[in-house]
Amino acid sequence: MRDDEHDVEYAVSVRDVSKNYGDVEALKDLSLDFPRGQLTSILGPSGCGKTTLLKIIAGLLSPTSGEVEVNGKTVTGPGPDRAFVFQDFALLPWASVIRNVAFGLELRGVAKSERESIAQKYIKNVGLSGFENSFPHELSGGMRQRVGLARALSVDAQVLLMDEPFSAVDEQTRRKFQEDLLSLVQQESKTFIFVTHSIEEAVFVSDQIAILLPRPSRVSEIIKPTGIRNKGTDNIRRDPEYLDIVDRIWASLRSYVE
Ligand SMILES: Nc1ncnc2c1ncn2[C@@H]1O[C@H](COP(=O)(O)OP(=O)(O)O)[C@@H](O)[C@H]1O
Ligand SMILES: [Mg+2]
Repeated sequence: MRDDEHDVEYAVSVRDVSKNYGDVEALKDLSLDFPRGQLTSILGPSGCGKTTLLKIIAGLLSPTSGEVEVNGKTVTGPGPDRAFVFQDFALLPWASVIRNVAFGLELRGVAKSERESIAQKYIKNVGLSGFENSFPHELSGGMRQRVGLARALSVDAQVLLMDEPFSAVDEQTRRKFQEDLLSLVQQESKTFIFVTHSIEEAVFVSDQIAILLPRPSRVSEIIKPTGIRNKGTDNIRRDPEYLDIVDRIWASLRSYVE
């Protein structure tokens, strides 16, 4: 863990955020900073408020108290600076891959030729070249997720919000996607905020991991697996530091698993 981060620029700052749903205190006085150009995972047991936190950052939910700042401005609602990669990705079933990827740009009034060339670039970056004219029902679950990710990237949002994006895909697809995500984080200087309940996944993909404990939810620890970030993807899973961090996180979460 490092403590020398005076020059880190934070794209997103969550300050003393609480959220109550009636009597349920979903989040309590939660503060967390998300550095630009990095991937931060939010890891915690089911029901600890991960989705609530993401929706508040997206501006889809208002906090009961506290605030979120994106590039120094207080969030008051959804905005083009943040893109949500939805769990089920909300693709248009009747539209081709390229139309789906370009859809966010279409909504913003970008001309057809321009939006298709932007879409094409991200189709390539997420590994979908050759599937431009396919329809969602012709794709596997993992490929549909790539379409959703390409759509979020093509609108050029600074902050990408991902809520357990790999939970519905098989293990091999998930591993491939995790590797691709690591290279995307390196290519794009965006702020990735990634919710997962998988310890291994968080340690594999993250620059920093915020451990959330439930009832009421609070950040118990922030872990930065900096030592393993420069190892090739083939080596991370057997790296001693990777294994050590996975064990350490499990030790702090195990008593919360029902
Ligand atoms: N719309 C809602 N109304 C009432 N309670 C909710 C609502 N959404 C979430 N909760 C409660 O808030 C807590 C946090 O939920 P959530 O943010 O979905 O957690 P996670 O994504 O970590 O599983 C849970 O106790 C959940 O039951
Ligand atoms: Mg959730």
